[in-house]
Amino acid sequence: MITPAMNPAKYLTFIFVAALSFQSLAHADEAKFFPEKGTHFGVYYYPEHWPEDQWERDIKRVAELGFDFIHYAEFSWARLEPEEGKYDFAWLDKAVQLAADNNLKVIMSTPSPCIPAWLATKHPEVLIMNSDGRRNKHTGSRLTGSLANPIYRENVARIATKLAERYSKDKRVWGWQISNEPHIQGGADYSPSAHKAFVDYLKEKYGTIDKLNEAWGASFWSFTHNNFEQINLPGGNPHARLDFETYTSLEIARDLDDQANIVRKHGDGSQWITTNYAYYKGLKNVNPFLTRDTLDFASRTMYLSHNRMNSSGDTLAHRLGSGMEYALSADLTKSVSGYMGIMELQPSQINWGKFNSMPLPGAVRMWVWHAFAMGDRFVCTYRFRQPLFGVEQFHHGIMQTDGVSVSHGGKDFVKAVKEINQIEDQLQPGATDPFIEKSRTGILWSNRNIIDIENYKHHQDWDTWQHIYTYYQNLKRMGVDVEFFGESDELDPEHIPFLVVPSYQMMSKELIGKLDSYANAGGHLIITTRSGLKDEKGHLWEAKIQEPIWKLIGGEIHYYDHLPSNLPGKISFNGKSYSWHIWGTVIDPFEGTTSWGDFEDQFYQGKSAILHRKATQGSVTYVGAWSDDWTLEYDLLRHLYGSVVGDLPFDLPPYVFAHYRQGLWTAVNYTDQIIDIPIPPDATILTGEKKLPPAGVLVWRK
Ligand code: GAL
Repeated sequence: MITPAMNPAKYLTFIFVAALSFQSLAHADEAKFFPEKGTHFGVYYYPEHWPEDQWERDIKRVAELGFDFIHYAEFSWARLEPEEGKYDFAWLDKAVQLAADNNLKVIMSTPSPCIPAWLATKHPEVLIMNSDGRRNKHTGSRLTGSLANPIYRENVARIATKLAERYSKDKRVWGWQISNEPHIQGGADYSPSAHKAFVDYLKEKYGTIDKLNEAWGASFWSFTHNNFEQINLPGGNPHARLDFETYTSLEIARDLDDQANIVRKHGDGSQWITTNYAYYKGLKNVNPFLTRDTLDFASRTMYLSHNRMNSSGDTLAHRLGSGMEYALSADLTKSVSGYMGIMELQPSQINWGKFNSMPLPGAVRMWVWHAFAMGDRFVCTYRFRQPLFGVEQFHHGIMQTDGVSVSHGGKDFVKAVKEINQIEDQLQPGATDPFIEKSRTGILWSNRNIIDIENYKHHQDWDTWQHIYTYYQNLKRMGVDVEFFGESDELDPEHIPFLVVPSYQMMSKELIGKLDSYANAGGHLIITTRSGLKDEKGHLWEAKIQEPIWKLIGGEIHYYDHLPSNLPGKISFNGKSYSWHIWGTVIDPFEGTTSWGDFEDQFYQGKSAILHRKATQGSVTYVGAWSDDWTLEYDLLRHLYGSVVGDLPFDLPPYVFAHYRQGLWTAVNYTDQIIDIPIPPDATILTGEKKLPPAGVLVWRK
């Protein structure tokens, strides 16, 4: 367990190494934990929700439907420890044995997200406070524990220890999920415990109050502090907020690390340990890379039908779901340790979305296939039975409310499991595809960057995630494999011939030099608007606008402009015109740099918006504007990739995907149109049709 108070030096090292480096600490135990080819399938089951005399029937049914694992216990603290220090594991022992009797592996969880009533009553200080200083109450919610509170931590450690002592060497247990969708209810904790931990963090980070004042730009509006005791939990100051969000990320990671270390300490190394990260867009202070050192790999959760961004009027978007966000979440999760699983996949209709439509028949099947296509080592669905009571009463499961009939979505799910089980033998571990190797693309990602931009957007339509999606989606339209990287990771052009740096606003000079070296060593760098506006502390440079990146991008930036959405501007690229309004950077290329795109109007008509230059062995492209419909970026990427890679096998519409996994290609269609998938003439189709209908799945081998 690392805390600022207990071991300042180690804590600081943890903070800096963890915050910057995604790669160096990765585990490489995929083959040990998942020796078989392909994907495992399982379900969430809550024995505590059902009469004991139904467990045997239900668990048997899980196996009969084709699943091979079952998930237990994540919210069952009150059942496991009904009174302080009094434990009841008999029910869980029985459920584990029933799983084993049916050849189901068990995923065990630590129940920290749900505090029992006895704990909240005896020690209300274990509950978080909101920014108005109102303390949470024990009202049937979850993720309300104050992670920084010593009593909370003690209790979490105790229940985790009890579980670990009992199950961490148990051969019936396959792996562990720590906590659930790690985050803090409401975003952050404003309790005195969090306040103290935040101030401790600042003391470690800055050492002296003068350094903190300097970093926070405290001379602005008399924010200067005389000592650390005067520091409040942040409000308006952007630098203080960035520090607070960073501290919160680290506190969330520390909680996971502590619990994982307990499980690991009691185990014999044969069980894996993960957590299930929720969709990243909504939780900017959650950084899955921070737990790379202690979790074996990251997994994720996904409910596709609740919110489809960039749906552009697709009439089936609400039924087919957010395939692009699903894919990005998979790639980001996989980038943590090189492999992943999906811990919660929507099985049917859900209860908490905007309108909770029924998925289109076939959609759930497509989602399962999509996970398989992207390489998930397991797919667990949330949940086996629809609950008859509680907050999620209207959340469908694999089974209907009678507990014995398979639901509409459940039928789709089970169908996909059977189909995949039949096909996965054809996977060829180690097989590669030349296009995938030549075009693999890194995306530089930092949640601190996102936090900093979102703190101050500068244009009301700016959305940092949408900017990242612009590039991600366009790369996927070409069928390119994407991996996410942190700035301390090795950026090797041999492994990632292309690197996109999307709106990386805070850059150190060291990072700028590293990007330059990447391009000189043969990498093709695509760096986008807003990047390098600030230094790594979040201050503007004492220099001309973005001047520290001028040499890298090969041009002089004069200023940036923004327009109202009803008065967009135009940029030309390759003879076509594209509209933009959120961000346009007005540039003049240096000698040796080519302007790839010019402003067609405004008072700076004729100036450059896009630059391209050759580096020693690679190239640098600077995209200084963000087009309104993302087509400028698509055409530009095609142009660049075509010139480097040669023929591009795919030109897919948004929301249609083609993924390569160990010798098999899989295409999925999240649009309302029939899409003709361009497979090679000599390809062998294993499932589906080339003319792919909405919710269709096509699998082929070259
Ligand atoms: C997830 C959560 C699950 C369950 C599910 C319902 O976000 O992790 O515990 O609540 O939503 O869709």
